[in-house]
Amino acid sequence: MRVRIRRFERRDLDDIMEIEKKAFPKTPYSRFTFMFYAFALPRNFLVCEDEERRRVVGYIIFHDDGHVVSVAVHPSMRRKGIGRALMNEVLKRTGGKAVVEVRESNETAIKFYKKLGFTFKTRIPNYYGDEDALIMSR
Ligand SMILES: CC(C)(COP(=O)(O)OP(=O)(O)OC[C@H]1O[C@@H](n2cnc3c(N)ncnc32)[C@H](O)[C@@H]1OP(=O)(O)O)[C@@H](O)C(=O)NCCC(=O)NCCS
Repeated sequence: MRVRIRRFERRDLDDIMEIEKKAFPKTPYSRFTFMFYAFALPRNFLVCEDEERRRVVGYIIFHDDGHVVSVAVHPSMRRKGIGRALMNEVLKRTGGKAVVEVRESNETAIKFYKKLGFTFKTRIPNYYGDEDALIMSR
């Protein structure tokens, strides 16, 4: 598999929506939300494209200070280093700093962030309405 990381383009939206609905079935971002971020943070909305299939297989959106808005990889493409590659692009741009909020039940994401050197900072009760958020940073 040959992949490359590049900026989001409008034609990626269908692939992104498919990933989003699978990654966050209860609370997917809308097409509008993705277009908003493409407009508001054009340099900070990155996708990972499978160059052979010409499909987007993951995305990350972040602020200049390293606050990650969202990151997701297509379920069929997980555990291949794509999430790590996307996060490394953020870390390259922020001098290694990043902060995330994560549902306390999202064990996969917590393991992923820990592996990338994030540590637990604080908890925000009811951040998601039905659940606390853990704030992790590095
Ligand atoms: C979290 C997510 C982005 C990780 O993407 P990924 O491409 O599968 O991650 P990587 O392959 O780069 O994994 C890097 C390391 O993280 C850890 N990790 C990732 N997934 C893991 C899992 N399911 N169980 C245990 N450790 C895991 C491993 O240490 C892994 O390295 P290894 O495969 O060499 O052991 C992906 O699981 C996802 O899209 N989840 C749904 C959306 C989500 O929860 N996003 C985060 C919201 S805060």
